Amino acid sequence: MSTTTRHDAWQEGDSYDAYMGRWSRAIAPLFLDWLDVEEGGDWLEVGCGTGALSAAILDRCAPGSLIGIDASAGFVATARRAVADARATFEAGDAQALALPTASRDVVVSGLVLNFLPERAWALAEMRRVLRPHGTLGFYVWDYPGGGLGFLHAFWTAAVALDPAAADLTEERRFPFCTRDALVALVQSAGLTNVTTQAIEVPTLFRDFDDYWHPFTLGAGPAPGYCASLAPPQREALRARLDRDLPRAADGSIAFTARAWAVKARAP
Ligand SMILES: C[S@@+](CC[C@H](N)C(=O)[O-])C[C@H]1O[C@@H](n2cnc3c(N)ncnc32)[C@H](O)[C@@H]1O
Repeated sequence: MSTTTRHDAWQEGDSYDAYMGRWSRAIAPLFLDWLDVEEGGDWLEVGCGTGALSAAILDRCAPGSLIGIDASAGFVATARRAVADARATFEAGDAQALALPTASRDVVVSGLVLNFLPERAWALAEMRRVLRPHGTLGFYVWDYPGGGLGFLHAFWTAAVALDPAAADLTEERRFPFCTRDALVALVQSAGLTNVTTQAIEVPTLFRDFDDYWHPFTLGAGPAPGYCASLAPPQREALRARLDRDLPRAADGSIAFTARAWAVKARAP
């Protein structure tokens, strides 16, 4: 594994939910409202993780069917348990080589995944391949280059102050293409048309410092993977620095916002 991917740990569903799944659950309905797809179609969700977006699709979009695929067998198992619905199936699979027939889905969506795929242009070509003519593609990624994920930006600011080598691990440095213009260019070069974008923001409120810090210790995701890799004294130094520096409200809560770029396009 390369230096910049060694902390992308996606195995344990409950740990992921505590770290990112809860914000994923908050943004998914806003994304689906914006996507505004007709009821009854056959959906594919690429990188379904623990099922945050899948559950929202089933709740509000009335799909005829939904296939969720994810590279992590652990996350697929969590999604199967969490999202029990006769319309939905979850399978392990690779976004860059979809095991689905050409022109077999009306809607292909993906939440917070594209930036983690080494071959994202190929993954988009795969999503286009499985879409029926005029089918809808929709996805969203955090606005990492714009500091859009405030709580994570704060984490890495403290981590890099203590360990300058960690700068190469920050999502801001790893995913410079998560801008509106670069995402549009990527989708257009995959041959999709009618590309539109939208910034979507959700509040990320932590009730106290422990609610903020604990998920970083669980190891699921890049920043938690880094945190878990630290020796105990270094981890404690990072905890203490964040505890000292994070802005608190009078009740001890810590408020940030999270902003994603959502992209919608059509298959030709
Ligand atoms: C940040 S999580 C997002 C999960 C979920 N969509 C959500 O919104 O909570 C990124 C997901 O991408 C998945 N992933 C990474 N590489 C993948 C690949 N090549 N094919 C399929 N899934 C992949 C990971 O296993 C992980 O579940």
